Amino acid sequence: MNKKLVSMALAATMIVGAGLSVSAEGAKTVGILMPTQSSERWINDGANMKSQLEEKGYNVELQYAEDDTAMQVSQLENYVGKGVDCLVIAAIDSGVLVNAEAQAKEAGIPIIAYDRLLMDTDAVSYYATFDNKGVGTVIANYIKEAKDLDAAREAGESYTIEFFMGSPDDNNALFLYNGIMEVLQEYLDDGTLVCKSGRTSFEDTCILRWSQETAQSNCENILTANYADEELDIACTAFDGFAYGVKAALEGAGYTAENWPLVTGQDAEVMATKNIIAGSQTMSIYKDTRLLAEKAVTMVDAVLQGTEPEINDTEQYNNGVITVPTYMCTPVAVDQSNYKEILIDGGYYTEDQLQ
Ligand code: BGC
Repeated sequence: MNKKLVSMALAATMIVGAGLSVSAEGAKTVGILMPTQSSERWINDGANMKSQLEEKGYNVELQYAEDDTAMQVSQLENYVGKGVDCLVIAAIDSGVLVNAEAQAKEAGIPIIAYDRLLMDTDAVSYYATFDNKGVGTVIANYIKEAKDLDAAREAGESYTIEFFMGSPDDNNALFLYNGIMEVLQEYLDDGTLVCKSGRTSFEDTCILRWSQETAQSNCENILTANYADEELDIACTAFDGFAYGVKAALEGAGYTAENWPLVTGQDAEVMATKNIIAGSQTMSIYKDTRLLAEKAVTMVDAVLQGTEPEINDTEQYNNGVITVPTYMCTPVAVDQSNYKEILIDGGYYTEDQLQ
């Protein structure tokens, strides 16, 4: 080998060597955006994503925006400016993120939508979520069975019901509402269920930013205006936070264990589970955030390593621009009869946490 060839070979080795050392040291960075720490589920989601991604060798940055949409926009812009390699976003109001998402796309940063679909953008590659309409049908079927609505219909009996639905800027909320009405609408139509406030549409029952305080004041107003002479039998709420607000309103209105209504929720938070054990909440929806994180991590791998993620829905989640390939996890109802088996034996909570 002549001198020139030797030095070329050496240079090539050095370049390859340098390349190797860059990829070994410079692990890829995933920027995660979560909506709020005010509800326990998102704290668990963030923690599970972070630890599972770190186990796979990724660097992780995790930020919460405390339900402040402007803060979430600037967190996203900040990640894009820094040049993270991939983004995982659980939006507060995805409508305001559209421009920053376009910037991410332009910078070649792929985006995974986490739990809540990112609307009106083509910058999202995959979506990991729970079956959001399924959450609604599970809640409504629980009510249907617990109150035996078919038997009530036969007997010409009726139950009063009020609805507390999710945030209008969260695509999940309407899916959930539609799931509920798919089951309950016929009982409202034939008078087996009576909504004395008359508030049964999504527009009339949705609660901006999933606010517990609004749920409480809505419930207080409804009880004062409509339930002076008759009791409320069912509070159909879409979120554990709403169930806490409804509980406070019911206590304020003098409800006791004797006439406590059936109260639904979502997320199976620790406090909700304690309330289920105590009897002031009837059921919740368990969403295993460990599983959801696992699915989202396979999507991060897919966009960064070129692997195939697991997808089980390619039809339901159209965001107005594209239909996003999705993995939907299955929601499960928990109540007094099965919380031990599902939450404790399943390793989600310890018995001590629920004391
Ligand atoms: C999630 C629910 C959660 C709600 C409020 C929804 O987007 O799917 O699990 O209860 O937000 O945080």
